[in-house]
Amino acid sequence: MNMFRTLLAAGLVLAAGSSAWAASPPELLAQGEYIARAGDCIVCHTGEADKPFAGGLKMGTPLGAIYTTNITPDKDTGIGTYTFEDFDSAMRRGIAKGGRRLFPAMPYPSYANMAEADMRALYAFFMEGVQPAARATEKPELPSLINKPWMLNLGLAVWQGVFHKVTAFAPQTDRDAAWNRGAYLVEGLGHCGSCHTPRGIFFQEKALISTNPVFLSGAQLDYWSAPNLHADLGDGLGAWSEADTAAFLKTGHAPTSTAFGTMIDVVNNSTQYMTDADLAAMAKYIKSLPAGARPGGKTPVYDEATTKHLNAPGEKSVGERVYLQRCSSCHARDGKGRDQYLPPLFGNPAVLDADSSSLINVTLNGSQRIVLDGAPDAYRMIPFRVLLNDEEVAAVVSYIRGGWGNNAKPVMAKDVAVIRKLTDPASDQVVILKMR
Ligand code: HEC
Ligand code: HEC
Ligand code: HEC
Repeated sequence: MNMFRTLLAAGLVLAAGSSAWAASPPELLAQGEYIARAGDCIVCHTGEADKPFAGGLKMGTPLGAIYTTNITPDKDTGIGTYTFEDFDSAMRRGIAKGGRRLFPAMPYPSYANMAEADMRALYAFFMEGVQPAARATEKPELPSLINKPWMLNLGLAVWQGVFHKVTAFAPQTDRDAAWNRGAYLVEGLGHCGSCHTPRGIFFQEKALISTNPVFLSGAQLDYWSAPNLHADLGDGLGAWSEADTAAFLKTGHAPTSTAFGTMIDVVNNSTQYMTDADLAAMAKYIKSLPAGARPGGKTPVYDEATTKHLNAPGEKSVGERVYLQRCSSCHARDGKGRDQYLPPLFGNPAVLDADSSSLINVTLNGSQRIVLDGAPDAYRMIPFRVLLNDEEVAAVVSYIRGGWGNNAKPVMAKDVAVIRKLTDPASDQVVILKMR
């Protein structure tokens, strides 16, 4: 199907009579489209669904909000006048055409490892495969003292000087080709570390490759905790097989959890489009990350007492009452979920995560639906912000973190209040972002 669309697009380009330059071969455009999927460019660079890649998505930074830029080949508001060198510089060095330094909200620290052949294919795709769309990018909303182009450029030049090194991907010779392919994709295009790796006070990711155990050890961004991806038991992926990990990236579903929060953007727009071989390579690499990133975790042992107490007549705690009324119809009284759409809460690494922000956030705001091959999942997690107050959310989240043998710490109503104030409910609108 991809190939067909590619041929069609190439045909249109030719029909339009752009004789000034030779159109790239369809295989190159198809490769570029695939790389754009692997890099999930569309999720950040699309503010209005009917203008793919035309920018305008608001993103928070520690200094204030900025907007993603138009990367369609429009000559006035997009990157239509970019040479390959300009494009490569933005992608790997974080320096856009004309010398403008980019905020690291653009994941160039990850993309810096990209191979030249992949970059050339990506460039060809953006120049010839993407529809040009006129859309000027909004100005950043930063404190007025620093919100001047020269001032930002100076600050970002210093940041890049200290934290950003452009390093080509270096394969590890003691690992096989699949592992190295996985490393290239996870550390690079997938920019998995931009959510899953802790950041320092200057917003820099504390590690960019697997030789540092902090890499992918779990972090919080925008009130979503992206869990530890090392082989730790409990809140890590210790209990997952390579096949579970690859399936999660392909479908958003694994035996112990279902994608939610910002991970939905990754599955819906990026990883589901990747080949089985690439997903297997990524899974192989992730599953090689050693335990010890967050010591102390244990895989919980299932305890029947929680379900027995729920089913028995008599007094119920606030957590039990809310769970019975609001959650058990989907997640089941035994905490084991139902069929493939309704995840278990027992033994779920996201539930056991020491950082409870994802759990509070998903309970307050629900989640978007997973959409695979254009078909939305039958169920989604619904928002409870109106139905439950802070005490009730804290009680039910604490309940599932301690129920059925789960061994995570309870949460406080004040933690719920903070997240309630700073977040919005997820939309149930199904938006499929088409790249062309
Ligand atoms: C996590 C969000 C995010 C992702 C993913 C992302 N970008 Fe960006 N990108 C940004 C932001 C934000 C900026 C603007 C930064 C600024 O203005 O300082 C930007 C800027 C750019 C620019 C500079 C354009 C200009 O002239 O201003 C290019 C080119 C670019 N991105 C290409 C890509 C490509 C290609 C991909 C996919 C491989 C991609 N981006 C993925 C957030 C993202
Ligand atoms: C935009 C932020 C973001 C990016 C980028 C991202 N993730 Fe995630 N990821 C999350 C969040 C938040 C969660 C927790 C919610 C969930 O379990 O789905 C998560 C969960 C996961 C899980 C399930 C972990 C568990 O304990 O249940 C896996 C596996 C995973 N991510 C792998 C990846 C890989 C591989 C990449 C790169 C291709 C990636 N993620 C990129 C935010 C992100
Ligand atoms: C209508 C069915 C439904 C109800 C009711 C429901 N959930 Fe969910 N929940 C889901 C689905 C489906 C997901 C998986 C994410 C998605 O697809 O949106 C989910 C995900 C979650 C997750 C993240 C775990 C994961 O692996 O995805 C938590 C935590 C959670 N729900 C807690 C609750 C709590 C607490 C309640 C009650 C206050 C509740 N849910 C009520 C359907 C439901």
